[in-house]
Amino acid sequence: MKAKTLLISGGSGYLGRRLCARAIETFDVYTTYSTHPGQVQAGEPLPLRLLDRERVLRLITDLAPDTIIHTAAINPGSDEALMMQVNADGSCYVAEAALAVGARLVHVSTDVVHNGRHAPYRDDAPPSPLNTYGRSKAAAEAAVARVNPQAAMVRTSLIYGLEEMDRGTAGFVERLKNGQPLVLFNDVIRQPVWVETLSEALLKLTGVEFGGILNVGGRQALTREEFAHRMLAWWRVDPLGLLQSGRAADISHTISLDLRLLVSKAEQLLQMTFPGVDDVLAQANYHVGEPLQVL
Ligand SMILES: NC(=O)c1ccc[n+]([C@@H]2O[C@H](COP(=O)([O-])OP(=O)(O)OC[C@H]3O[C@@H](n4cnc5c(N)ncnc54)[C@H](OP(=O)(O)O)[C@@H]3O)[C@@H](O)[C@H]2O)c1
Repeated sequence: MKAKTLLISGGSGYLGRRLCARAIETFDVYTTYSTHPGQVQAGEPLPLRLLDRERVLRLITDLAPDTIIHTAAINPGSDEALMMQVNADGSCYVAEAALAVGARLVHVSTDVVHNGRHAPYRDDAPPSPLNTYGRSKAAAEAAVARVNPQAAMVRTSLIYGLEEMDRGTAGFVERLKNGQPLVLFNDVIRQPVWVETLSEALLKLTGVEFGGILNVGGRQALTREEFAHRMLAWWRVDPLGLLQSGRAADISHTISLDLRLLVSKAEQLLQMTFPGVDDVLAQANYHVGEPLQVL
């Protein structure tokens, strides 16, 4: 039987790379990049900029995939107008196109749509973003739900892997390499998700009849500081005494503090358990106290 066609937007990104690698086991995979074609590791790469509605519609109409997983997005810290255009408008174009070709759509969103004052958050908790990134992703959710109510949307947390360093840890390592002190927040709480768990959940969701929002995060809530310590230790990075503990609330009002998510609905629907960071590290046979490397 011919494999179903899956289009993964953002195959050159951190999540997209692992998702494509797993998806090719089951699907005929096409994936998009914007500026980094060389980062695509699996699937048939296609150029796509989400700013151009006609091009998004044409690419998806021509390909007519059975399923689309939309991961492409612009990260916090980028140009704010562009973030709105790509994340909100771009997601709307993808949802329109998915509807036009009758493709199942799974859209990737974020815990940062919440303000962090009412955790733990249910799957259907209304968004209350504090910053432009959160607003752009909340606007994307609203647009996708309006255009394509059958679409599944996944609110997820910090994504990490054990084979490729996540962007947050990589940024910390860069600072440490330059000898700069690093303040790690002890009042920011997240449920980091292993990229393998998230990829499996997204792929399973393509085959499940579910429309609406689902929380997918690791079961273990950690402060940003606790999570960073674990990742730096996993990557054997010696912080050289440059780490400090601090409060995000003291320096910014636009960082959501407590973003714990209730994840049991997704676990039941997908027949999965979303392991916490310590479970993932234990499975990988990580031993605390293994030698650190000098930066
Ligand atoms: N990383 C996290 O911790 C985290 C947490 C919660 C939610 N999320 C969500 O998870 C998804 C994946 O995140 P990620 O960390 O894997 O992102 P990433 O590594 O930054 O990758 C982003 C992807 O989007 C593409 N892209 C950027 N601008 C584009 C544009 N104008 N048009 C088309 N494509 C564009 C990039 O293509 P090029 O690189 O080729 O330019 C890349 O493939 C996003 O929806 C994000 O909001 C991430």
